[in-house]
Amino acid sequence: MKKSILKILKNNKDKFISGEKLSEEFDMTRSGIWKYIKMLKEEGYDIESVPNKGYRIVSSPDILTLEEIEENLNTSFIGRKIYYYDSINSTNDRAKEMAFEENEGTLVIAEEQTKGKGRLGRSWISPKGKGIWMSMILKPELGPINAGSITLLAAAAVHSALKNLDINSEIKWPNDLLIEGKKAVGILTEMSAELNRINYIVIGIGINVNLNEEDIPEDLKARATSIKITQNKKVDRKKLLSNILNEFEKLYIPFVREESTAHFLSICRENSATIGRKVKIIKNKEEKGAKALDINEKGELVVQYEDGKIENVFSGEVSVRGNKGYI
Ligand code: BTN
Repeated sequence: MKKSILKILKNNKDKFISGEKLSEEFDMTRSGIWKYIKMLKEEGYDIESVPNKGYRIVSSPDILTLEEIEENLNTSFIGRKIYYYDSINSTNDRAKEMAFEENEGTLVIAEEQTKGKGRLGRSWISPKGKGIWMSMILKPELGPINAGSITLLAAAAVHSALKNLDINSEIKWPNDLLIEGKKAVGILTEMSAELNRINYIVIGIGINVNLNEEDIPEDLKARATSIKITQNKKVDRKKLLSNILNEFEKLYIPFVREESTAHFLSICRENSATIGRKVKIIKNKEEKGAKALDINEKGELVVQYEDGKIENVFSGEVSVRGNKGYI
């Protein structure tokens, strides 16, 4: 009911809608309508109420609900159902709990994570209302091996969405996006699979959107940043989120239907922070110097070691570090 009232107000942005009209429409008393308007106001909607005129929406809060992003969403299934939390431990953990029952494309989004997870057991700082902390449930009909490059698909989608908003980023193979050389986006892909079929994939995306310098812990300052810090202005999280979901679906459909990786891999290659650089390949705690040559059609990184040997490395088995620090 609350959502339907909000929809009518949003569809009539500059007009007053009378309490009478709303109560007729929803077959409810005018005080019943007022109860819902009050709830919306408590959520941060600025709704003007004028006697004899009715209600008019003045502004919407900066929250990442479906109602707030759907006007810019062009997808058929990605992000069409959103579980929205003000605060949660980890969106990836919540998405994994519900993944068996939910349809593909369902999202878990939180304004804050109290136990955000990064790769390799690290934690992920997720302050309230300042980022996009989300997890997407996917159920591709692919063999588990063929799904390995899905993190790169997500990275390409985020890169393209940022580009649509005039923000330049580079993709650090396989799961980070850098802006001005520092990490602003991290992706954590988790999968439940049997030998030859995937039960589900949860792609967790963390984007430092409007974090200030003081939100970034001292020990990460040299390597981490936010979009706001680099662009010198606050960025519209709703616009960025709907853009990411649109770009994701555009790449995901050909990937699952035709196993086509060409488009997203070319985005990753053309905007790579890794290709052509000297890297350290950390495998089984052993560190080896190499040069990153390319990303192959499976999404693996092609590297050449100092002894001349060329190898394709798979994202799950290595950690890539730049020769002189992060990139
Ligand atoms: C990394 O760079 O190590 C990956 C970071 C992934 C962070 C995101 S935030 C949303 C989702 N929920 C989590 O707990 N982690 C991912």
